[in-house]
Amino acid sequence: MSELIQKDVADLSEEEARAELEHLAAAIAAADIAYHQNDAPEITDAAYDALKRRNDAIEEAFPELVRQDSPTGRVGAAPAEGFAKVRHGAPMLSLAKAYTDQDVVDFIERGQRFFQRDEGLELAFTAEPKIDGLSASLRYENGVFVQGATRGNGSVGEDITANLRTIGDIPERLAGSGWPEVIEIRGEVYMTYAEFQALKARSAASGGQDYVNPRNTAAGSLRQKDPAITASRNLRFFAYAWGLASGEPAASQYEAVQKFAEWGFAISPLMVRATSADELIAHYRLIEAQRASLGYDIDGVVYKVDQIELQKRWGFVTGEPRWAIAHKFPAEQATSVIRKIDIQVGRTGTLAPVARLEPVSVGGVVVENVTLHNEDYIKGLDSNGLPIREGIDIRVGDSVLVQRAGDVIPQIVSVVLDKRPADAVPYEFPHTCPVCGSPATREVNDKTGKEDSRRRCTGELSCPAQAVEGLRHFVSRGALDIEGLGAENIELFFAKDLVHNPAEIFTLHERRAEVQAALAERREEQARARELASGKVRKNVRSAESRNFEGLDKLFSAIDARREPELDRFIFALGIRHIGETTAAALARTFGTMDELIRVGKQVAASEDAMAVFPSVDGIGGTVVEALADFFGNERNEAVLAALLAQVRPRPYVINVAADSAIAGKTVVFTGSLEKMTRSEAKAMAERLGAKVAGSVSAKTDILVAGPGAGSKLKTAQEHGVEVISEDEWFERVGRS
Ligand code: IVH
Repeated sequence: MSELIQKDVADLSEEEARAELEHLAAAIAAADIAYHQNDAPEITDAAYDALKRRNDAIEEAFPELVRQDSPTGRVGAAPAEGFAKVRHGAPMLSLAKAYTDQDVVDFIERGQRFFQRDEGLELAFTAEPKIDGLSASLRYENGVFVQGATRGNGSVGEDITANLRTIGDIPERLAGSGWPEVIEIRGEVYMTYAEFQALKARSAASGGQDYVNPRNTAAGSLRQKDPAITASRNLRFFAYAWGLASGEPAASQYEAVQKFAEWGFAISPLMVRATSADELIAHYRLIEAQRASLGYDIDGVVYKVDQIELQKRWGFVTGEPRWAIAHKFPAEQATSVIRKIDIQVGRTGTLAPVARLEPVSVGGVVVENVTLHNEDYIKGLDSNGLPIREGIDIRVGDSVLVQRAGDVIPQIVSVVLDKRPADAVPYEFPHTCPVCGSPATREVNDKTGKEDSRRRCTGELSCPAQAVEGLRHFVSRGALDIEGLGAENIELFFAKDLVHNPAEIFTLHERRAEVQAALAERREEQARARELASGKVRKNVRSAESRNFEGLDKLFSAIDARREPELDRFIFALGIRHIGETTAAALARTFGTMDELIRVGKQVAASEDAMAVFPSVDGIGGTVVEALADFFGNERNEAVLAALLAQVRPRPYVINVAADSAIAGKTVVFTGSLEKMTRSEAKAMAERLGAKVAGSVSAKTDILVAGPGAGSKLKTAQEHGVEVISEDEWFERVGRS
């Protein structure tokens, strides 16, 4: 495999490209199975990404060679708009609803009446959570997943097979035995709160789009053109029913679902069997009580007749089974009034509107603040400019219906127009930053031509809101990570005018008395608040104060200890837009020193065509290069950075080895999959150290760095007696592991 990755795509013949695409499809499919189904990845993420990128590059150069089973999910020839249509083997039904306990009693009585002539029959039911996601139908033939579709209109859905394959809870091959030759497994695709919050956080950190709730996000993730994006969303799936089947999986609903688990599906752990309305309702209460701690949204409990034979006899009415019903949870909704709309400014300058409500209890929790996401959302439009609330905007003074689902952040469902005050006016989203007064603008994405949904303050570090968020970021875990200097202290020092920029953190000891006073004052306040709350009077004030002094010395030495941070942490700490920890590390490896990064950054900033002057680094594209150009082209940043660099010396990423370097002047070849660096980073690093990097091994080669999967190059090297070292040994030799 590694041999195939060597040749430039431009140099490939059609035959070679075809052969390589075939290889790549197989290798990527094998890696997917190892990762998603066996939970035992056989290659590193970096190696996997390299395969994907290589596949992408070849597909782009040879669009006519794109395979039917292409790992990108592209289909041969011009990819059609949208997804192909799939007719379900059996319709995907919806469910009748029950809202009250009486509705459940009525449902059971209907069943008993229907089967009243069957003497001695005990009608049984299953009860299980109703997952708030998207239903999907998965067709298995001879135990192999062949096609997956959305529900669509119930008869015809969309083919999203490639995206469904990325879901770990969906087996590519059924485990165990006894499955019908053909079966459509039905279930719900959903996103956990944890995954949703993580995605939101990632997106916010890199200035990406906003996500409103897990269900919509799961839906969007399933409809991606690129399955790699779906894969990154870590969707989940519960199997709970089946459609067409060449043989019944079991005689009862309950047993069938247990079989699904044996075949390798995730099933809800909260399914039970019961025979009376009381038992069903008791289980409903139990699930309701656990709702907030499940970690994903559910919106009710589904009851189904357990015996398949009886399901068939009771039958259907207009798209709904008679033998099942969804007992919905009461909506966790309440109405309140918007008192005002505040704008909060984040680290990257995003203006985030928050509605301040008359406090209202929603499902047992008092809600006072609700995010309004962005300007368009307030206007009643989604990110594509389509109405989300039947075109009704949100105004100060409006009565709004507020909803909490599980423990997800509260949201506004609708505006009660009847109650809109006569003098309510459309909200005017500020075009200047409410904190610093700088213009706040909406950027236009170069590629899509679309306006960003967020408005951003252009004041950067001169904006106090951005400055304090920037400082919090600077000392955070992945950044400088200064012990004892958390977000709370940073806010305090900023508020007390003791630290305005990162450089001043390192001169804090010069303002020792003021720092001491600020900390003491806060401690006093906290103690007073505690006293008030507990009614106890405190003793031992002196010893608390002497601890104080010690604490201060500790803080200053913790700050001193970080005067020579690792370069990658330092770059990340700068909080340049779109530069997360991974990108910061790639930049550090590539440029080696801060001086070099600054030099290239300025060059990029001054150039008309930023991409043209920026060296090619794997994983770094136009967005990052633009962000670097913006950052290094900004005079204020230059001043802040210069002041900081007068205090702090980031360690060069690679100790620059002098002429006696083990690498200088040598010819090096890299082969196999590298795990700690991409191939182009490896090349850049070697060249910086004075080595020459070659593509093939010959007698002139001095060193072969071989990762896992090294093939014929390794053999050739051994034949020529070339020194072969591992990636770790390489790092040891260049002075950094
Ligand atoms: S059974 C024949 N079970 O609810 C019955 N549906 O309103 C087919 N849903 O489209 C559905 N959790 O998306 C069933 N445990 C569950 C469910 C469930 C969620 C969804 C499903 C369906 C909708 C029906």
